[in-house]
Amino acid sequence: MAGAGAPNLNDSGHKLNGKVAIITGGASGIGEETARLFADEGSRMVVIADIQDDLGNHVAASIGSHRCTYVHCDVADEDQVQHLVESTVNAHGHLDIMFSNAGILSPSNQTVLDLDFSEYDRLMAVNTRGMAACVKHAARAMVKGRVRGSIVCAASVAASRGAPTKTDYAMSKHAVLGLVRSASVQLGKHGIRVNCVSPSGLVTPLTRAAYGTTMQAEELQERYDRSARLKGVSLTAKHVADAVLFLASGDSEFVTGHDLAVDGGFTFTPVPV
Ligand SMILES: NC(=O)c1ccc[n+]([C@@H]2O[C@H](COP(=O)([O-])OP(=O)(O)OC[C@H]3O[C@@H](n4cnc5c(N)ncnc54)[C@H](O)[C@@H]3O)[C@@H](O)[C@H]2O)c1
Repeated sequence: MAGAGAPNLNDSGHKLNGKVAIITGGASGIGEETARLFADEGSRMVVIADIQDDLGNHVAASIGSHRCTYVHCDVADEDQVQHLVESTVNAHGHLDIMFSNAGILSPSNQTVLDLDFSEYDRLMAVNTRGMAACVKHAARAMVKGRVRGSIVCAASVAASRGAPTKTDYAMSKHAVLGLVRSASVQLGKHGIRVNCVSPSGLVTPLTRAAYGTTMQAEELQERYDRSARLKGVSLTAKHVADAVLFLASGDSEFVTGHDLAVDGGFTFTPVPV
C-alpha cells in the first residue's frame, strides 16, 4: 500500500516526496500558500481546484507546470468534484492527499435575527456539502487505489464556538468537525486519516472581502492580533500551511480525527476585542 503516511525512504529531506495532492480553493490565501509549500516539499503533482480560473492558472504556472496544475471545480457541484478526483487519478496514477479548503463567507452579517437564506444556502453548499463531496470522492479514490491517504479539511475557530455574527459560517464549520470525526472513524480501517485545521482570523482575500469595506488590512490584522493570547506574532497563511503539511505528511502518521487549532490560544480563552 502506498500513501501519505508511509515513510519516505528515498527522499532528500522533503516531507511529501512523490505525493499527489489536490487543494481546493488553491488559487488564493491559505490554499495558494499550501500549494506552494506542498510543491517545495517534493510533491509529484499539486492539483489546484478553484473557480477563479485566471488566478488558479497563474498560481499553477508560477509554481511550475511539472509540479502544479489547475482544474476548474466548483465544489458545490458533486459531479465537478468527482471529475476533479477521477481526472487527477487518471493523469497521475493515484491520490495521496486531499486538502479540502475552499470556503466562503456570506456578504451580510447573518445574525440569527437577520438570516438571509439565499446566502445561507450558497454558503452551506460550498462550506459543508462541498467539503463532504471532497471527502467522499477523495476517500473513494484512496480506498479503490489502496492508498493510505491523508484528508485535511479547513475548519475554523468558528467550528467550536458561538459567533456574534456570521451564524451560517459558524454552523457550516461546526458541520465540518462532524464530518471529519465521522469520516476518521469510518476510514481508519482503510488506513486513511482525516483531520482538520482551525485557524483564527487572518488577513486573506476572504476576510478582506468581508470586512474590507469597513476596515483596512492593517486594522483587521491588529484586531486579529488583539484576540490572540500569544503576542509578538501575527497569524499568516504560512502558519496554517505548515499545520496542513504536518497533517498531510507522515509526521502525523498516528493522528486522525483531530482538530488542529492554529489560533495563538484564542479558542481556550479569547481576549475580548
Ligand atoms: N482567513 C481566515 O481568517 C480563515 C480563518 C479560519 C478558517 N478559514 C478557512 O480557510 C479556508 C480558506 O480561506 P482563505 O482565507 O484562504 O480564503 P480565500 O478567499 O483567500 O481562498 C478561498 C478560495 O476558495 C475558492 N472558492 C470559493 N468558492 C469555491 C467553490 N465553490 N469551489 C471551489 N473553490 C471555491 C475561492 O475562489 C478562493 O480562491 C476557508 O475554508 C475558510 O473558511 C479562513
